[in-house]
Amino acid sequence: MIPFSPPYIDEDVINEVLDSLNSGWITTGPKVKALEKEVAGFTGVENVLCVNSATSAMMLMLHWFGVGSGDEVIIPAYTYCATALAVMHLGAVPVMADCDENFCIDVTKLKKLINEKTKAVVPVDIGGYPCDYDEINNIVSSSEVTALFRPANEVQSKLGRIFVMSDSAHSIGAFYKGKKSGSLCDVSVFSFHAVKNVTTAEGGAICLDLPAPFDNSEIYSWLRLLSLNGQTKDAFTKSKGGNWKYDIVYPGFKINLNDLCAAVGLAQIRKYSDDLLIRRKEIFGKYNSFFSEFDWAQMPPFQNSGRESSYHIYLLRINGISEEQRDSIIDQINARGVAVNVHFIPLPMLKIFRERNYDISNFPVSYDNYSRVITLPVYPQLSDNDIETVIKAVKESYEAVILS
Ligand SMILES: Cc1ncc(COP(=O)(O)O)c(C=O)c1O
Repeated sequence: MIPFSPPYIDEDVINEVLDSLNSGWITTGPKVKALEKEVAGFTGVENVLCVNSATSAMMLMLHWFGVGSGDEVIIPAYTYCATALAVMHLGAVPVMADCDENFCIDVTKLKKLINEKTKAVVPVDIGGYPCDYDEINNIVSSSEVTALFRPANEVQSKLGRIFVMSDSAHSIGAFYKGKKSGSLCDVSVFSFHAVKNVTTAEGGAICLDLPAPFDNSEIYSWLRLLSLNGQTKDAFTKSKGGNWKYDIVYPGFKINLNDLCAAVGLAQIRKYSDDLLIRRKEIFGKYNSFFSEFDWAQMPPFQNSGRESSYHIYLLRINGISEEQRDSIIDQINARGVAVNVHFIPLPMLKIFRERNYDISNFPVSYDNYSRVITLPVYPQLSDNDIETVIKAVKESYEAVILS
């Protein structure tokens, strides 16, 4: 069986973890700091805070902005549940927008959803393909939209507009008009979950790129404290002799990343742009050159109008099929020894959202994308032979279901 997304574990990863184990320090400490520095160097965003997941990172940032009960946050209907749950856990309401045919939030729908309750927009770079950030940033900064903004605290007054937080869970390494994912809006959140391009088993990174007069390094320090129960000194600092006294200055969260996990990501990110990401791109290229031969195959977005994907997953859509036919094709592919997936079931189709009266019929593009998509594996360990096997399995399965 070709697995869908095994983590990339080589000697360097193992050695980095062993280094942490042998150092006598395994929770938040030098490895997390080093990973934050690597992500900062990679994205060009100076202030990066690592935490234990993208979900908690998004909750932390929405909390920092003061999002709460009575507020609305615009998210795409086509995303993983975490985008919405982060909003709901703060007591705010996720307002969903349909996606476009790139799987990105449809920016032409955005303005109509904004009202006096709107506090944030969370674009999601599905599959690693960046949303149209210029357009999103322009909309929230336009005088028509800022006139609707009702700041409820000092931070909101300082920004003076809707907060743009990218759910960049998939898009580390992506580009938008010459800029890297992480630097495309106020705050971007990467996921380092086990299936992501760079992983720490579980983890996430917050890239702080707030405009002046915000001081991103000051915000970094404050958020770091918030991620550690609101404690003025982390355990590493306190472990140094004579440094035991601390205070709790804010009812914070406990969402810090630990050094053992950070070590995995540290070894990976060091070879990401020159090695791992390049192989991902090659795999995409191989899939593209095969599927472009067939009318029934619609390739995923990967490079267009200044945008370039991080090549996280290959979102193949099959033209002219129903959801049931898609499911049958997946069964056939699995039977041929290849694990594939579907990213994502649109949120309005899931129980908790159906119960809250979200209705998939209001999101026709999301449904169309979902009903025809089959996610093919992309990871550096896939050999050329494996890719051949995947391609053959998809073609045969399509023919078995549709042409038989
Ligand atoms: C689009 C998207 N957003 C957010 C998340 C949540 O990431 P994490 O598991 O690090 O909390 C995921 C995870 O799969 C995701 O796919």
